[in-house]
Amino acid sequence: MKITVIYGTLRKTKSSTYNIAQQFIKCLSDGDVITEFFLPKSMPNFCRGCWKCFTDYTKCPDHEYLNPIVEAMLDSDLLIFTAPVYVYHVPGQVKAFLDHFGYQWMAHQPRKEMFSKQALLISTAAGAGTKSTLKDLKDSMNFWGVAQTYTFGRNTHGADWDSVEGKRKLKFEKDVVKLARIIKDKSVNVKPCLKVKFLFYVMRFMQKKFKFNQADVKYWESFGWLDKKRPWKSK
Ligand SMILES: Cc1cc2nc3c(=O)[nH]c(=O)nc-3n(C[C@H](O)[C@H](O)[C@H](O)COP(=O)(O)O)c2cc1C
Repeated sequence: MKITVIYGTLRKTKSSTYNIAQQFIKCLSDGDVITEFFLPKSMPNFCRGCWKCFTDYTKCPDHEYLNPIVEAMLDSDLLIFTAPVYVYHVPGQVKAFLDHFGYQWMAHQPRKEMFSKQALLISTAAGAGTKSTLKDLKDSMNFWGVAQTYTFGRNTHGADWDSVEGKRKLKFEKDVVKLARIIKDKSVNVKPCLKVKFLFYVMRFMQKKFKFNQADVKYWESFGWLDKKRPWKSK
């Protein structure tokens, strides 16, 4: 399975989130290409709010950073995002990264390829907050049109991987193997979940009825999505 990983921080060996991600990758990669990006190094800037992406995403002032990440994501079967909980939410650099993809939300110009991909979102907290952190990421996955999204949130009761109890690590590892098996089993002919399909039809209605942004309407028309074509069907 081709995988793109976006790590939410630059921490590696000491990071619980990174170590859990490595366990998933080991179970899922099958020797295929793994492309990795680390935030904030791979995308160090905040969105400037210039709105250029909403007419042409290549005009984003950060396109040089974003382009290799977008290309890797489009070429992958599985997207993995990691995010330790920082004050109950994703770290700022993860939010800044996601902000750059506002144009790709389903209300605007979703990428056709996303409707046949899976995503895995991994978060760890010392004691609480993985639910709201994973939701920060999951909102984007759903609105990007990612077909199936899985979440893995765990409390480590520690500040880093070395301080996590052995018993707890073992339990995590068992859970990783279980979820990795599900992801692998569902990796053939991936179709969008009900929520993503529902969002697609709501946005399609809005494009047809309100035509807020001509660039978006043209985009939807160009794929035939305002007629009979659907992004999850090959014809
Ligand atoms: C700035 C900051 C904010 C944090 N906020 C929370 C929090 O809201 N809830 C919590 O349980 N842990 C919080 N933590 C602890 C981390 O989420 C926890 O240690 C996590 O496992 C770290 O992941 P990492 O080892 O991958 O960096 C915070 C840590 C930092 C550095």
